[in-house]
Amino acid sequence: MKGREKLCAKLSSAFLRKWWFVVAISLGCLFFGFIVTIFFNSWVKLVINHQIQLRDGSQTTGWWAKPPVEPVIKVYVFNVTNADEFLNNGSKPVVDELGPFVYVERWERKNLTFHDNGTVSYNLNKAYHFDESRSKGSQDDVVVVPNIPMLSATSQSKHAARFLRLAMASIMDILKIKPFVEVSVGQLLWGYEDPLLKLAKDVVPKEQKLPYEEFGLLYKKNGTSEDRITVNAGTEDITKYGLIDNVNGAKNLSHYTTDECNSLEASDGSIFPPHMTKNTTLYIYDKDLCRRLPLVFQKEVLASSNEVPAYRFSPPKNVFANVEENPENMCYCPQGPPCAPSGFFNVSLCQYDSPILLSFPHFYLAEDKYRTAFDGISPPNPEKHTFYMDVQPMMGSSMSAKARIQINLAVSQVVDIKQVANFPDIIFPVIWFEEGIESLPEEVTGLMKLATTAPPLARLAISCSLFIVGSLLLVIAIWRLIRGANRLNSLHLAPGHIGGQSSKNNVPMGNVPKY
Ligand SMILES: *[C@@H]1O[C@H](CO)[C@@H](O)[C@H](O)[C@H]1NC(C)=O
Ligand SMILES: *[C@@H]1O[C@H](CO)[C@@H](O)[C@H](O)[C@H]1NC(C)=O
Ligand SMILES: *[C@@H]1O[C@H](CO)[C@@H](O)[C@H](O)[C@H]1NC(C)=O
Ligand SMILES: *[C@@H]1O[C@H](CO)[C@@H](O)[C@H](O)[C@H]1NC(C)=O
Ligand SMILES: *[C@@H]1O[C@H](CO)[C@@H](O)[C@H](O)[C@H]1NC(C)=O
Ligand SMILES: *[C@@H]1O[C@H](CO)[C@@H](O)[C@H](O)[C@H]1NC(C)=O
Ligand SMILES: *[C@@H]1O[C@H](CO)[C@@H](O)[C@H](O)[C@H]1NC(C)=O
Ligand SMILES: *[C@@H]1O[C@H](CO)[C@@H](O)[C@H](O)[C@H]1NC(C)=O
Repeated sequence: MKGREKLCAKLSSAFLRKWWFVVAISLGCLFFGFIVTIFFNSWVKLVINHQIQLRDGSQTTGWWAKPPVEPVIKVYVFNVTNADEFLNNGSKPVVDELGPFVYVERWERKNLTFHDNGTVSYNLNKAYHFDESRSKGSQDDVVVVPNIPMLSATSQSKHAARFLRLAMASIMDILKIKPFVEVSVGQLLWGYEDPLLKLAKDVVPKEQKLPYEEFGLLYKKNGTSEDRITVNAGTEDITKYGLIDNVNGAKNLSHYTTDECNSLEASDGSIFPPHMTKNTTLYIYDKDLCRRLPLVFQKEVLASSNEVPAYRFSPPKNVFANVEENPENMCYCPQGPPCAPSGFFNVSLCQYDSPILLSFPHFYLAEDKYRTAFDGISPPNPEKHTFYMDVQPMMGSSMSAKARIQINLAVSQVVDIKQVANFPDIIFPVIWFEEGIESLPEEVTGLMKLATTAPPLARLAISCSLFIVGSLLLVIAIWRLIRGANRLNSLHLAPGHIGGQSSKNNVPMGNVPKY
């Protein structure tokens, strides 16, 4: 009893009290080390969430509104080289893949309006400029492609009254409309006057009228879109960051049979909700895709000039599978069956009922019979023909992307119309394109790289130094306390004396005081 009291008295003596203070500091260091280890990632999350929010006038908003990148669209055209033999002699169609025809794009989100509920509205402006040096061929190259307005009209007339089909045949005779057209690449993309559309504009009742008299696969895409898109800015709900709230006031599509398939809750492809995992399914929406497209994790990559670690997301392999293979796709076939075959997506509801089917280039993921119905289409190569997007998972920004889609026309044979009587049921490819971003500018890449590599390093550095300093101090202090207590014990000094001695011996921490 007495010995212990004595020891306590010694340990609380003024000299050793200093070392108790050091013990407290070291425990403090260890405690903060734990705090940093546990909470650092949440702090980084908070900082990132705050930084990426789209707020009026912020730098992120500037980059988002006027992306400092030049997306590039590469167009490949399937030139039909034996149109006459195909129509007259029933030969297998031969196509010649021409291109790429390269257009450099500039995007700008115009007329931004920030709303109180954490959303922002914009009109997307896209300007396309032909890049002759990167292209193989010129915009003036003449190609032979299926006459989409005509074949759409004839295919649609399949179920109409016979006299209508016969009337259609005589009109097409008078207007000299043929199943294949000879147009320049520029015209095919940006528009040429089509006699059938012109006629339709004059005779068809107002409410069924097609809005244009020109036809082009990218017609009216060069300029500001009339669609007003409202997206979540992330200020109210970061988990909806970048997701569409409405398009022209509509919160969902109305073409399909379920809410899931009609959903517009998707990104436009530039920014995604941050902090995604490998389990996250991303969605992108594009008007011409006529639906939102799911993207699932594929692999980890180094994006943007091999500098920034990113996740590569691609559409799942069964995304366009037929309803037998993927029953979830039933909702995309409101008037079926029959529905589109595996590997194709029917966008006719978004294309004024034209029988347009989208697929991946070279019929990737579709049955081989569709490709081998033609001569001149090489087997699909996943490297060259998949659709992917590389996204920085913490910030949710796209780093690089290749959106690859092929546009096909599903022609139905109509024997009553003599011009197309020999045109069999066939899915005819017209063009395929790749719209992509190769890499971001150095300024942005640098920031992303820093944001990816700095936080884990900082966390390691801060928590390690706190642990090391804390443990060292603790060890030294305990060692001093034990040694001090032993010394005092062996010297048999009274507590009072120690006080005086210790105050004289006011040495800096860590130095060994002399006795
Ligand atoms: C496309 O094919 C036609 C023959 O059908 C040919 O006259 C034309 O030169 C081809 N176009 C190009 C750019 O090769
Ligand atoms: C169709 O085939 C016949 C005989 O096989 C041939 O004489 C004719 O030139 C062919 N027509 C075309 C447009 O190639
Ligand atoms: C910008 O958007 C607002 C709200 O929709 C609209 O009233 C205004 O006319 C637009 N301005 C321009 C220049 O498009
Ligand atoms: C937010 O406000 C805008 C503009 O008033 C509106 O279009 C949008 O539907 C609102 N969104 C939500 C989620 O309330
Ligand atoms: C798109 O529009 C811009 C300016 O309005 C023009 O300079 C450019 O040539 C157009 N691009 C194409 C492919 O027509
Ligand atoms: C959105 O969905 C609802 C219910 O599914 C439907 O009543 C409404 O018409 C749809 N809105 C549009 C713009 O299609
Ligand atoms: C992903 O999902 C699987 C199974 O659904 C689960 O076991 C795994 O923990 C999830 N991983 C993450 C990172 O959420
Ligand atoms: C595409 O969809 C339209 C409208 O739903 C339908 O009439 C047509 O038969 C479909 N085409 C194919 C090839 O499934």
